[in-house]
Amino acid sequence: MQEFATKYGTVILQDSLEYMRDSIDLVFTSPPFALLRKKDYGNVEADEYVAWFENFAREFYRILKPMGSLVIDIGGSWIPGQPTRSLYHFELLIMLVRKLQFYLAQEFYWWNPAKLPTPAEWVNVRRIRVKDAVNCVFWLSKTPWPKASNRRVLTPYSDSMLDLIENGYEAKLRPSGHDISEKFQRDNGGAIPPNLIAIPNTESNSNYLRYCKEHDIKPHPARFPARLPELFVRMLTDIGDSVFDPFAGSCVTGEVCELLKRQWICCEIVPEYVEGAKGRFVMAYPSNNNKEANYYKILNPAVLWNGSSTEGYDDLPADGGKQRPTFEEQDHTLTKSENPQKSKVEKVQAIQPRLLDHRDQYNTE
Ligand SMILES: C[S@@+](CC[C@H](N)C(=O)[O-])C[C@H]1O[C@@H](n2cnc3c(N)ncnc32)[C@H](O)[C@@H]1O
Repeated sequence: MQEFATKYGTVILQDSLEYMRDSIDLVFTSPPFALLRKKDYGNVEADEYVAWFENFAREFYRILKPMGSLVIDIGGSWIPGQPTRSLYHFELLIMLVRKLQFYLAQEFYWWNPAKLPTPAEWVNVRRIRVKDAVNCVFWLSKTPWPKASNRRVLTPYSDSMLDLIENGYEAKLRPSGHDISEKFQRDNGGAIPPNLIAIPNTESNSNYLRYCKEHDIKPHPARFPARLPELFVRMLTDIGDSVFDPFAGSCVTGEVCELLKRQWICCEIVPEYVEGAKGRFVMAYPSNNNKEANYYKILNPAVLWNGSSTEGYDDLPADGGKQRPTFEEQDHTLTKSENPQKSKVEKVQAIQPRLLDHRDQYNTE
């Protein structure tokens, strides 16, 4: 059932398994994950996930053009009741490659710097795991040579690279064995991005949200940021190519494709999400003013550790955190020990020279 159409695309309100049309250049999607904390739209259990997804994946293979790509954004999950991880997304990847004959063109990692520290029980209460802030983004293809160019997604050069382009570099063999030739001095218009993508998921002032508010529609609870599909739509398709999102949600993929002049089809099974998606294409709404940072800094994890002493820190829990700390004990952990956050600024300043010493010692660059 076609719900609405735009200049370049169509939104279909239907189970995508029953709606698959061929000649697609890119299937880009974020399926429901096998989450422990279920979303409104329902999530498949981890142990049934691979079999459930296989039906869709066979169809993706069929409808993709020979040079096309399948890109899946998928988050990890936890084993119920214990602080260990499910392997479901890795099993999915292995099924796609081993059983359905997709090639893994490359795996990406989407780091959401704004991700809240969850699951609270393991991360905030027992303090035995760190926050899970990275999704896997698997780029698969039907041939080892899918249509692609990283020239479409260059990023600004770093200051040191600009300096190198300007002032040159003495060609030499690095300690790592890499041969740095004069070619490194060439200005290629920008730096090639890595497969770690840093995009905060913090949409707060968009056309979509304003539209939902004004029409009393509940916004989709698991939207990805537009920058995510944008990267792959730019890198893997040309203007006029066809993009399909079979688990479209609020239709971010459609909005990105509309702006980039790709033909697109978004399929979504929940009518309210499709209603909300209309807000992405209502031009009466002023454009999005979200302010984005260009860079995210990933701190060296040692910044607050400094030195070999663990004085002032509690011993590691002998039972691995199995016994839940009482409320008082949780509080106690922060006051009895030296709270690493307390004098963060002074600590970071104080250790800079030592970090440099450490680097010299091991001759890393
Ligand atoms: C993780 S959400 C996608 C969110 C989307 N990327 C966005 O940014 O708004 C997955 C969506 O798939 C939808 N869905 C689940 N099974 C479906 C099916 N068989 N056909 C179409 N949509 C389905 C769910 O209703 C949900 O909205």
